[in-house]
Amino acid sequence: MDTLTIPPSNGARRGSLACVGLGMTLGSHLTPLARSHIEQADVVFAALSDGVVELWLERMHPDVRSLHPYYAEGKSRRVTYQQWVDVMMTEVRAGKRVCGVFYGHPGVFAWSPHKVIEVARAEGFHAHMEPGISAEDCLYADLGIDPGRFGCQHFEASQLLFYERRIDPTGYLVLWQVGLVGDLSLTRFTTGSAYRQVLVDVLAQDYPLDHEVLIYAAATLPIQRPDIQRVALRDLPTIAMTAKETVVLPPAAPLKQNRLIRARLAALDEQLVAESA
Ligand SMILES: C[S@@+](CC[C@H](N)C(=O)[O-])C[C@H]1O[C@@H](n2cnc3c(N)ncnc32)[C@H](O)[C@@H]1O
Repeated sequence: MDTLTIPPSNGARRGSLACVGLGMTLGSHLTPLARSHIEQADVVFAALSDGVVELWLERMHPDVRSLHPYYAEGKSRRVTYQQWVDVMMTEVRAGKRVCGVFYGHPGVFAWSPHKVIEVARAEGFHAHMEPGISAEDCLYADLGIDPGRFGCQHFEASQLLFYERRIDPTGYLVLWQVGLVGDLSLTRFTTGSAYRQVLVDVLAQDYPLDHEVLIYAAATLPIQRPDIQRVALRDLPTIAMTAKETVVLPPAAPLKQNRLIRARLAALDEQLVAESA
C-alpha cells in the first residue's frame, strides 16, 4: 500500500491520469482538449514519434519526461511497457495530475495507455483517455480509402503469423508493425526480409502474388509529404522498413451476394406490404 496518497474526503483519490494523443503530424493534429490536459498536468510523460516532436511538447510544459529511455535493444518491449505503467502510476499515487502523451491515438495499437488507465481506475483514481488522430485516420485521408465501402480488417502483422486468423480479401486489410513482423521475442526493433517472406506466404493463401500492396508512412513533420509505395505482394520482403510503415492490401475479390439472406429480407418486405394493404 502506498503511503504517499492523501486519503480522499469525497470518495475520489487525489492524483489523476489522462492519456492523450498528439496525433501524427507535429503541430496540426493536437486537439484543444489534449493540449489542456498537457498544460494542466503536474507531470507529463511522453512516448512520441521523434525527438523534434518531444522538443515541441517541452514548449508546452516544464516537466516532460521521455519514456523512450526505457526501450533497449535485446530488452522485451513487454518489460518496457510495464515500466511505463509503473512510472506513471508512481506519480499518480503521489497525488500528482499525470498526463501521458502518445503519438497518434493513445488507444490504437498501444498497450500501456489502456493498462495504466485500468490500473489507476482499479485503485480509485480518476483516469481518462483523450483520443488523437492515428495513423489509421491519416491513411484513410492520404490513400483515399473509406473503410465503410468494402469493410476493413486491422491486424498487428505478427498476430497474423502467430495465430490462425480469417482474412476477408473482399475488404481492405491493414497491417501494423510489419517492420518487426514475426519477432516472437519482443526484443527487436526490426526483423529482416526472411520474416516478411513468411508474412507474404501467409497472405498468399488469400491474395495473388501480383496483388498491389500499399506501404504507407504518414507525415510526422509539417514539411513532409506522406510516403506511399506501391509494390506487388511478392516484392514486400525487398522493401526496407522502419517502425513507421503501415501496409494496406486493397480488396482482391468482389463482394459476394448473400442470396439466402437477401431472399429472407425480400420475404419480410413482402410480408410488410401485405400487412399494410
Ligand atoms: C505501436 S503502433 C502505434 C500506433 C499509434 N498509436 C497510432 O495511433 O497510429 C506503431 C505502428 O503504427 C504505425 N505507424 C506509426 N507511425 C506511422 C506513420 N508515420 N505512418 C503510418 N503508420 C505509422 C505502424 O504500423 C507502426 O508499426
